[in-house]
Amino acid sequence: MSPLKKAAMSNAIIKLDQVTFRFGERTVLDACNLDLHPGERLGLSGANGSGKTTLLTLIVGLQRPEQGRVIVLGEERRSEADFRQIRGPVGLLFQDSDDQLFSPTVAEDVAFGPFNLGKSRAEVEAIVAQTLAQLGMESFADRVTYKLSGGEKRLVALATVLAMEPKVLLLDEPTAGLDEAVTDRVADVLLGLPQAILLVSHDRGFLSQIATRTTRLEAGQLVPSTEATGLSQENR
Ligand SMILES: Nc1ncnc2c1ncn2[C@@H]1O[C@H](COP(=O)(O)OP(=O)(O)OP(=O)(O)O)[C@@H](O)[C@H]1O
Ligand SMILES: [Mg+2]
Repeated sequence: MSPLKKAAMSNAIIKLDQVTFRFGERTVLDACNLDLHPGERLGLSGANGSGKTTLLTLIVGLQRPEQGRVIVLGEERRSEADFRQIRGPVGLLFQDSDDQLFSPTVAEDVAFGPFNLGKSRAEVEAIVAQTLAQLGMESFADRVTYKLSGGEKRLVALATVLAMEPKVLLLDEPTAGLDEAVTDRVADVLLGLPQAILLVSHDRGFLSQIATRTTRLEAGQLVPSTEATGLSQENR
């Protein structure tokens, strides 16, 4: 069977097939394989510098592999045009909120994506209000984004991703800098989403609460992780 047919049959919404990536001499991913299936919430852990963020950037084409294939939403993606098609349906929460936020106010930042998707002004206003409410941030709509605290920026960055209603969410440390109550709220929101999620986190409790499966990045490859998952908890 051809490799392309095989990929289609695996039914993965995101697939990395033998992906190798280097920064100069440093091999970050070494023939790395990944499958994310519809509805799955895959928790990804790994030491600082193990390549988790790099892996996410490869999925959305912000960097290109030296070898191997990146298959997203059923098609192999190679060119910038290929990746442009998937940057709406695949929502990436950047590790650094400042990479995500660029508008003067919170409402404008959250509105930016839906506007670009061609929604009407009324639709966008409804999405902004609903998304901010979901995260308990109704009162932040008119705040100046760059003056927010780190945790507040984290939530607004997440709001900008959720507002796009992506088919898949790639979340790089969504709870970094969040207090316990806000972390619980984010957990509730994520557990209520039907979408597939690839969740990078150093927070083991959060990871095990959210993930239906966990994996670890070690020496450039994904290895099975021994973390408990939400599926083994009573509330699942
Ligand atoms: N632009 C770059 N140029 C050169 N090396 C880089 C660059 N970006 C990342 N690296 C290196 O690639 C490796 C993987 O980095 P990456 O950011 O993917 O790690 P990570 O697993 O996300 O780490 P963390 O848990 O700290 O967020 C690190 O050794 C890092 O120093
Ligand atoms: Mg990282």
